[in-house]
Amino acid sequence: MLRARGLLRPGVPAAFGGSRALPATPGPGPGPAEAEGDPGLARFSSPGLERRLRGLAGVRGGFVSEREAAELLREVEPALRRGRYQRDHWDRAISGYRETERDLGGVLGGSLLPRLAPWFPPHAPPRPRAHVLDLEPGGAVGPHVDSTKFCGCTIAGLSLLSSSVLRLRSLRDPREHLELLLEPGSLYVLRGAARFEFTHEILAEPESFFGGLRVPRGRRVALIFRNAPQETPPDPLGDLPAFIEDPREPPDPK
Ligand code: OGA
Ligand code: MN
Repeated sequence: MLRARGLLRPGVPAAFGGSRALPATPGPGPGPAEAEGDPGLARFSSPGLERRLRGLAGVRGGFVSEREAAELLREVEPALRRGRYQRDHWDRAISGYRETERDLGGVLGGSLLPRLAPWFPPHAPPRPRAHVLDLEPGGAVGPHVDSTKFCGCTIAGLSLLSSSVLRLRSLRDPREHLELLLEPGSLYVLRGAARFEFTHEILAEPESFFGGLRVPRGRRVALIFRNAPQETPPDPLGDLPAFIEDPREPPDPK
């Protein structure tokens, strides 16, 4: 039904911490002025990995305010409610979910897209159509790399309702991993190597830890933004095994 997980492709990773200022957001609490993540929301398996992924994987807490989060949920709930949670495909990358796509052309969408722009390369902005993924408390997204056919170099996810943990693991060396703590209202961004050379997953309840901190899973709704693939996808892994891609077809455009 949905068009989003088998999805992405490569591009030129622009640094997270570029010189473009993040437009003022009404999100709670002060945050870094630039389009970069909050260091306390990311845990790397080694300092070397942290250096390597600097600017390529991060989370910004309080990207939207509680009022905006409630408004976004109101906007996407009717379409989500039309679907039933899918639990039967345990062999697939994802379980306990329903999803839809939403053109964020409305008032809030109109204000959200420009705020996402600094996190994307100028030549490859986010598509205006958000992938809306609703995970029930027992749901999880298994390790995968978004399809390089359908999506570009940057993935940005806005998390609503429940906290969760996004884990990335290197395809080259599985000992290399990082955890991102996704609190409600936060935005995570994966780009370049973090998007192409690492799997990402949303941890199921029993595994849902950020370091020693247990992160209980409730229902979580994510609005995921991706950009379009470039003409020539990079081949970051050379002769290493192919990407693990979600086998599902993209959903029909509505
Ligand atoms: C996906 C995915 C992560 C999330 O749908 O491809 O990785 O934040 N989702 O829900
Ligand atoms: Mn994904």
